[in-house]
Amino acid sequence: MEILRHIVVLVHLIGFAVLFGAWLVEAVGRRIRVTRLMTVGMVIAAVAGLTLAAPWGIEYDLNYVKLGIKLVVLLVIGALLGIGSARQKRTGTLAPALFWSIGALTLVNAGIAVIWR
Ligand code: HEM
Repeated sequence: MEILRHIVVLVHLIGFAVLFGAWLVEAVGRRIRVTRLMTVGMVIAAVAGLTLAAPWGIEYDLNYVKLGIKLVVLLVIGALLGIGSARQKRTGTLAPALFWSIGALTLVNAGIAVIWR
């Protein structure tokens, strides 16, 4: 059970890597746009994260305040990706603030996960 949980943590980290990596590629290339791969990474991180939010394969209590905040941040990232891709399709451009918020909020969630114990 514990090994299975560790595997789900790995899948969760792959989701984070795909979301942040896809965003970073665009940021470094100075392309202010959202891509499908960002959404794919977010969905992987969300499904694995929600699976980990249930208390199985552990002998300690989960920090539900922390998990609740991570869930809210994830929902905001999801909303920004949704709004961003719709506007991008309609107008061909994306507000820089929306683009930078996606990367920043992804880092905020990773920071909360690692620093808040
Ligand atoms: C973009 C969104 C997210 C990012 C970038 C992210 C990032 C991370 C990272 C980097 C870790 C590894 C921390 C460590 O083991 O030291 C982690 C663990 C974890 N994440 Fe997330 N996460 C996200 C969303 C979520 C959501 C929505 C939930 C559930 C509501 C969640 C639940 C967990 C749980 C339960 C762990 C296992 C370690 C712990 O208990 O803190 N995550 N996350």
